[in-house]
Amino acid sequence: MSQQRVQGHAGHAAKPSAGFGPKPLRDSFQFLRGFVRNPAQVGSIIPSSRQLEQRLVRSARLRDARMVVELGPGTGGTTSAFLQAMGATAQLLAIELDTEFHHRLHASLHDPRFNLELGSAERLAEFLSARWLPAPDAIISGIPFSTMPPEVSDRVASTVARVLRPGGRFVAYQVRGHVSGFMSPYLGQPEKSWEVINVPPVRVYTWVKPG
Ligand SMILES: C[S@@+](CC[C@H](N)C(=O)[O-])C[C@H]1O[C@@H](n2cnc3c(N)ncnc32)[C@H](O)[C@@H]1O
Repeated sequence: MSQQRVQGHAGHAAKPSAGFGPKPLRDSFQFLRGFVRNPAQVGSIIPSSRQLEQRLVRSARLRDARMVVELGPGTGGTTSAFLQAMGATAQLLAIELDTEFHHRLHASLHDPRFNLELGSAERLAEFLSARWLPAPDAIISGIPFSTMPPEVSDRVASTVARVLRPGGRFVAYQVRGHVSGFMSPYLGQPEKSWEVINVPPVRVYTWVKPG
């Protein structure tokens, strides 16, 4: 993948494709390859749309967040949009399970605010403490709760609820509604919306941790 970068928020490097305009075909092709490798894990055939990216930025209130976590960055379109919206001193931790996506992100996304880990979202607490990162203000997740083993989904849900700072936001974009059943025992009822300008249209759930 190209190492070329344009200036994003506060002069930091961001992917040249971040923000607006059409998505690079190369990213879509790599994403489709990822889906063919592991359909249940990737859960979608093309990356999220620009409209979905911006809806996630708003729902998670990323412009005010100091510590952000992304579960399942994939080929990094969402990640770049998040970095572009975040402040100059904020930090982003992204956790990706697919080794090829992880490798590509590591090689292509250079930003001092970006921290990347290879592994399952279940290890979120361990990754945060290993890097001495604070409790997240926002966690955004595209991992498919509907196709993951239920015990994995439950471990991710309980970890997210535990590590999020009081008043912090958990935003999940999903084709199906299973995430609600896993998350609501820990964080109560979410706010729900749809993003229809995306293939396929997705539900966007937002929880705010009490406190
Ligand atoms: C629907 S894709 C979202 C990709 C990208 N964020 C986007 O919106 O274009 C889901 C991503 O979650 C990753 N994933 C699935 N299960 C995971 C897990 N347990 N931990 C971390 N990442 C996971 C997949 O490999 C894939 O990259």
